[in-house]
Amino acid sequence: MAKKRENEAAMPRHIAIIMDGNGRWAKKRLLPRTAGHAAGAETFRRIALYCREIGVKYLTVYAFSTENWKRPQEEVSKIMGLMKDYLLESIRDMQKNHVRIEFFGDLTALSPELQDLAAEARKESEVFTDSQVNMCINYGSRDEMLRAARAWAKRCAETGEDPESLTEETFSSLLYSADVPDPDLIIRPGGELRISNFLLWQAAYAELYFTDVLWPDFDERELDRAVAAYQARNRRFGGI
Ligand code: FPP
Repeated sequence: MAKKRENEAAMPRHIAIIMDGNGRWAKKRLLPRTAGHAAGAETFRRIALYCREIGVKYLTVYAFSTENWKRPQEEVSKIMGLMKDYLLESIRDMQKNHVRIEFFGDLTALSPELQDLAAEARKESEVFTDSQVNMCINYGSRDEMLRAARAWAKRCAETGEDPESLTEETFSSLLYSADVPDPDLIIRPGGELRISNFLLWQAAYAELYFTDVLWPDFDERELDRAVAAYQARNRRFGGI
C-alpha cells in the first residue's frame, strides 16, 4: 500500500507530447501521409484516455505548429478535419469523459467552423477539473513568448506599471499555458532529438524522453516506459 502511494506521488502531473512520425509511419506502409495523421489521431485518443486512467492530470499535445501551414494544402486540410472530428466527438461525449479541453495557440487562423467548435468545447468542458487536455494548434513557443512580451509592454504603457517589475510568475500568466503547471515530462516519439519550438519557457525543468517509435505506434506500454524513465530520474530543480 505504501509502495503504491510512493508510485502515485512520482506520477508526472503534466505530460506534453510532440506527436512526430506520422508521415514516416504511412510511408513505411505505402500509404499517403494523411493516413499517418489519421492513425496519429487515433493514438492521441488512446493515450489521452490512458493518461487519465493512470492519474496524469494534464496532457498537452502538439497537433499543429505555426510552421505546419507550409505543408501541402491536402495535408493541412486532413489535419484540420481530424481536429474537427475530435472536437465534435469531445462535445458529444463530454458528460461521459469529463475532460477539460483547452487550446494553446492562435486559433484565429483556423476556419470559423473550427474556431466555433473549439470555443464550444472549451466552454462546455471548463467545469471539469480532474483531467485536462491542451491541444496546441497553430502554436509556436517563440510566437507565444513574443505575444506575452507585447502584452506586458502594452500593459506597462497603459497602466504605468514599471517594466522592471516583471516576474517569472507574471510572464507565465501571459502565456497560453497561464493556468497550467509546467510539464514534468516531455515525450518526443519519431526519433528526432529536438524540441522544435514547443513549450520552450515551460520546459525549463521538464524531463525529456525521446524514442524512435513513430507516433502512430506509440501505445500504452510506450507511455509506461516513458513514465518509468521519468520516475527513475532524480529531479533537482537546480539544487544538489
Ligand atoms: C508530425 O508528424 C505530426 C503533425 C505535424 C501533425 C500531428 C497531428 C495529428 C496527430 C492529428 C491531429 C488531430 C488530433 C485529433 C490530435 P510528421 O507528419 O512530421 O511525421 P514525419 O516526420 O514522419 O513526416
